[in-house]
Amino acid sequence: MATNGTSKTAVIRIQKFNPDKDKKPYLKEYTVTVTPDTTILDALEEIKATQDGTLTFRRSCRHAICGSCAMNVNGHNTLVCNQRVNAHLDKKGMITVRPLPYLPIVKDMVVDRTSFWDQYQRIKPWLVPPEDVPETEFRMTPEEVKALNDAEKCIMCGACYSACTVTAMNKSYIGPHALLKASLRIQDPRDSITDERLVEISGADGAYRCHTIFNCIDACPKNLNPTQAIETLRKLAQKRAAYVDARKERQKTL
Ligand code: FES
Repeated sequence: MATNGTSKTAVIRIQKFNPDKDKKPYLKEYTVTVTPDTTILDALEEIKATQDGTLTFRRSCRHAICGSCAMNVNGHNTLVCNQRVNAHLDKKGMITVRPLPYLPIVKDMVVDRTSFWDQYQRIKPWLVPPEDVPETEFRMTPEEVKALNDAEKCIMCGACYSACTVTAMNKSYIGPHALLKASLRIQDPRDSITDERLVEISGADGAYRCHTIFNCIDACPKNLNPTQAIETLRKLAQKRAAYVDARKERQKTL
């Protein structure tokens, strides 16, 4: 690792795979010059522009908000647009970047997220308001807003889904991302299909399938807690009838 003032060279080891010509994924090393501010995404862009135009990856916002640049860096799922290269270099000045694990590789860093989105659709992530919508605004208590706050911050990057060992073995599992969103809708006093949602997440591929390994918490770049949301869902599912009745009463006051 050669240094020059604040810049230095770093080796980015990237997993490459083109299913049209490669039998299996392989690692390829690229040497780049980085400064303390160079992000991993910057390095990938540099490599694509100057060394390997075939390098394929997703990115869009560059501000950790669109969720498209999630990858596996040194064995840990993360967004690469808000992670600096320097923070992840090993003693040899090297960093290893792979696609999100347990998902089919389309090319290089691009994975097929079909199962991820299918499970998300399955839990109906949209709000379903009651038919008798109040003429003025829905009213919520500060406590209710606080309970929903964290789940709203999810950017659907797939880091938690790909880190989950249950989804790795069983793509019919709803998954931490969708269960987190389900908890958001189920606890939202404006939603009217609470019973249907609780039945869905109580099935064989729902909240009870989680092994509570906490990989989703470790992987989340937004510091969210899908495991806690799943635990909340389990508790609500056990008292489903009482919770649904309370919801109906609550909606009368909105
Ligand atoms: S590019 Fe949008 S989250 Fe990284």
